[in-house]
Amino acid sequence: MDWIERRREQLERAGQAHLLRFWDELNEAERAELRGDLDGCDFSEVEHFFCQAVKASGPLQQQQQTMDERMEPVPKEVQGSVTRDRERLPEWKAEGLLQISESKVAVLLLAGGQGTRLGVTYPKGMYNVDLLSQKTLFQIQAERILKLQQLASKQFERKCTIPWYIMTSGRTMESTEEFFVKNGYFGLQKENIILFQQGMLPAMTFDGKAILEGKSKVAMAPDGNGGLYRALGNKEIVKNMEDRGIGYIHVYCVDNILVKVADPTFIGFCVKQQADCGAKVVEKTNPTEAVGVVCKVNGLYQVVEYSEITLVTAQKRNPDGRLTFNAGNICNHFFTLPFLKDIVEIHEPQLRHHVAQKKIPYVDDQGQQIIPDKPNGIKMEKFVFDIFQFSKKFVVFEVLREDEFSPLKNADSQDGKDTPTTARHALMSLHHRWVLNAGGYFVDENGTRIPAIPSLKELTDLPIKCEISALVSYAGEGLDKYVAGRDFRPPLIIDENGAHELTKNGL
Ligand code: UD1
Repeated sequence: MDWIERRREQLERAGQAHLLRFWDELNEAERAELRGDLDGCDFSEVEHFFCQAVKASGPLQQQQQTMDERMEPVPKEVQGSVTRDRERLPEWKAEGLLQISESKVAVLLLAGGQGTRLGVTYPKGMYNVDLLSQKTLFQIQAERILKLQQLASKQFERKCTIPWYIMTSGRTMESTEEFFVKNGYFGLQKENIILFQQGMLPAMTFDGKAILEGKSKVAMAPDGNGGLYRALGNKEIVKNMEDRGIGYIHVYCVDNILVKVADPTFIGFCVKQQADCGAKVVEKTNPTEAVGVVCKVNGLYQVVEYSEITLVTAQKRNPDGRLTFNAGNICNHFFTLPFLKDIVEIHEPQLRHHVAQKKIPYVDDQGQQIIPDKPNGIKMEKFVFDIFQFSKKFVVFEVLREDEFSPLKNADSQDGKDTPTTARHALMSLHHRWVLNAGGYFVDENGTRIPAIPSLKELTDLPIKCEISALVSYAGEGLDKYVAGRDFRPPLIIDENGAHELTKNGL
């Protein structure tokens, strides 16, 4: 029996025979394409995922209501905070740097998403938000890793490495790889950047049929950022971590321009609390902000996504006026390697897929592609935080939004939220404060010092154009020698070659 006969039989058994309905009219290249898609899917498994996910989800309103009744905020005892625990920060940072200096810390980037909302066809990490330096998100993150390696090496007088694991998907693997090669791995060592690919799943109609996007193409999508755990096992990444002697992993998502990759304070906090799993959060102050909240559900830690909470619960406030569910998830997580290993080897199959209703392009019986104007099917995704429930010691670390969280989700539009413009402004305004805190000043075109908090509306709306290379400073440290007592006329760049006023140099 040849491939097509075997396949036809299998698909008929799985109720998916429609995927071959154009086979006879396909040319060789198209057949190869469809064959590739079908060979990549185990349809009995897909059916099992579909049944579980759809059964678990039920009607949205009902889901939300039952969720609301079971939610509790994170208890105080498991929380650390950059504002409330100021006196302990040096101790935590020192612990984190120690672990980094012993090469026990790895970072793991979730970069398999499709960037649909941003509207780009290439991986989000390659996006340039038009900073003065024109650096991309990948470059900014790479340079923070480099700098942190240097800081830890210097303090403890030993060479160290922070390996960078990058999860991509069928949609982003090739271009991510090419981008790193083309850019000489941004100064990092090639062998310390480990790219691996997550799985893909077909998009399904509401009654469980895989969708054909073209005559020879199944509509496939990455299986969510929780696809991480399966990929880690399949691609032997956990083994790679063990071989390198890694103890702690900082997992983060690609789109936050302010991300403190391998943040020593967060790592040190988690290590000192002997936590196996931790989440960094910012205070959610607006009930309708699109961030998940870290909380307990049925006594177990979990993130309840913005799409899963009712407005009534999102608006609940404590007597002090703060939101009751205010631990806003910024997709920055800490895991010990033993915890991660248990997840990969034991718990991963227990994680259910979440269901997202989507508009999925499909071909009709005549082979015409149709772009639907309302949701016609679902995508199934696991979420990275769904493993919090298995933690034996879970902690939460609250940081400041203006220092650490400005995600890039949407394309630029007037009054848009989480756009290239808001990301660029967030970075510049942080770096502006770093310069002021290190004793520098900014002046206008007349040489008059610009007040730190300008009173003119047009000045408060636009940040001072200022960018500091991560190769110079990871979190605002070490800037005195460049800026103390000096006046700068923006735009200002501070890099390994010093502080440059771009207008003066005619750049
Ligand atoms: C995510 C969080 C949300 C949080 C918000 C903060 C999840 C499931 N949700 O939401 O709680 O408040 O960030 O910005 O984590 N990715 C993959 N593979 C996939 C899908 C996504 O690697 O199959 C990666 C993306 O490349 C990105 C990250 O996961 O780096 C987050 O994905 P995204 O879809 O942007 O999540 P949000 O809905 O913004």
